[in-house]
Amino acid sequence: MEYNVVKNADKIVKNCPYVVNEPFKYKNKWHDLFQNQNPIALELGMGRGDFIIEMAKTYPKINFIGLEIIDSQMVMAVNKLHNLKLPNLKLINIDAQLIDKIFGKEIDTIYLTFCDPWPKKIDERKRFTHENYLKLYDKIFRKNKHIILKTDNKGFFAYSLETLSKYWYIFDKVSLDLHHDEAKIPNIMTNFEKKYYEEGRMIYYLDASFKN
Ligand SMILES: C[S@@+](CC[C@H](N)C(=O)[O-])C[C@H]1O[C@@H](n2cnc3c(N)ncnc32)[C@H](O)[C@@H]1O
Repeated sequence: MEYNVVKNADKIVKNCPYVVNEPFKYKNKWHDLFQNQNPIALELGMGRGDFIIEMAKTYPKINFIGLEIIDSQMVMAVNKLHNLKLPNLKLINIDAQLIDKIFGKEIDTIYLTFCDPWPKKIDERKRFTHENYLKLYDKIFRKNKHIILKTDNKGFFAYSLETLSKYWYIFDKVSLDLHHDEAKIPNIMTNFEKKYYEEGRMIYYLDASFKN
């Protein structure tokens, strides 16, 4: 996917107080950084940040970390934070492949929201629900594993159901039409989701866990 380049994005991101510029320093110390022992939820590929910012506002007793590889995307999140006071939110501008270098066993929930589906077989390893990623997640989950995934991509959703179940995750909730599901799953929309919702696209959802 192509994204617009924002001038000086790297500097804007670096100077934002919500951004943790040397995340490797905080491995096993994220609760100290948040100054509490509340659960930590991590969103991989947060894009423009609407979801993680709204989640942090709505659930002050949960710590949220938004991770995004493209600084020009992260700038959009940074710009939304100027007048907000959210001590339970941090942002990291880095590749998700490095999460095990940044976190010890301290993450309670991972959100995978509209992540790139990488439909070509040759790119399978880049999918956030590829077994290699699931192994990475094992290294950072505090105790139980908990993944919440939303996507508009049927193929990627089917693939994720398969890889997660092969990896012994249990599906606590599955919806093939999140916005019209009678089960009324509580939901905060991401940027991509808002666009797809307006277009009337179906949103697929799963909430999977593995209890140790
Ligand atoms: C389709 S967008 C979805 C953004 C947001 N989650 C939403 O729903 O609006 C996927 C995002 O994942 C980011 N991304 C892709 N690969 C990544 C990686 N390896 N590490 C971190 N972010 C990544 C992209 O830069 C992009 O912002």
